[in-house]
Amino acid sequence: MSPGVDIEASGIRRAFGSKVVLAGLDIAAAPGEFVVVVGRSGCGKSTLLRLLAGLDKPDDGEVRVGGEPLRGLYPAARVVFQDGRLLPWLRVGANVALGLSSRETHRAAEVLAEVGLAERSHDWPAILSGGQRQRVALARALAASPRLLLLDEPLGSLDALTRLEMQRLLERLWQRAGFTSVLITHDVEEAVALGNRVIHLANGRVLGEWVVDLPRPRPRGNAQFTELVQHILETVMRIDQGILR
Ligand SMILES: Nc1ncnc2c1ncn2[C@@H]1O[C@H](COP(=O)(O)OP(=O)(O)O)[C@@H](O)[C@H]1O
Ligand SMILES: [Mg+2]
Repeated sequence: MSPGVDIEASGIRRAFGSKVVLAGLDIAAAPGEFVVVVGRSGCGKSTLLRLLAGLDKPDDGEVRVGGEPLRGLYPAARVVFQDGRLLPWLRVGANVALGLSSRETHRAAEVLAEVGLAERSHDWPAILSGGQRQRVALARALAASPRLLLLDEPLGSLDALTRLEMQRLLERLWQRAGFTSVLITHDVEEAVALGNRVIHLANGRVLGEWVVDLPRPRPRGNAQFTELVQHILETVMRIDQGILR
């Protein structure tokens, strides 16, 4: 059995006042799948992720995790945000151990080692680089051995090189642990590097979907990789421009 759990959102509608952000959206991820959602800024990606995480409720439609309707937070799901959200008054190790039972605290050191920060357990978050802070945020999410990892542009604020490193790290951790991933990004290259499937969110719905059938890790220079990135970029831009016009 895969440690990953399936998630399925159907007919999701979410409006803020008169502004309809999600207009009957369907999206699903199979156990252990890595699904990436791309879309331009303001298209409703974070709104969708909050709904999948149970941090917000749809006006209409339903989210099911492991076949059960989601009511509040799913216990075996974790979310990583762009800003990491570490607690500045706790050292790195304590941030990672947050929420673990006393029997599980050894996991904190394990996952810190997995993200390459075993030595930084006693440091304050403030002295870490942006990339290191996101690795701590990732370690904190993984410490609980989640079955579902929801990622809202977790690499969005990192420089290009750190971003590439972190993509590799995320891929390795996902391959090793087998959880289901839903990653939100505006970066199509990142989407193709990581996703089994790439989904285009626009106008409150899924307007495009691509299966990425390339061996991992996915070398950037590879012709198939570049072609798929170009194809998705062109399609996404054509659709988005049609909507904005
Ligand atoms: N709590 C809220 N109240 C009012 N409007 C919101 C709220 N959350 C998001 N929105 C609006 O919904 C739209 C989509 O936002 P968001 O999901 O954050 O987009 P993305 O993550 O794709 O950039 C935006 O127009 C945003 O202003
Ligand atoms: Mg967002």
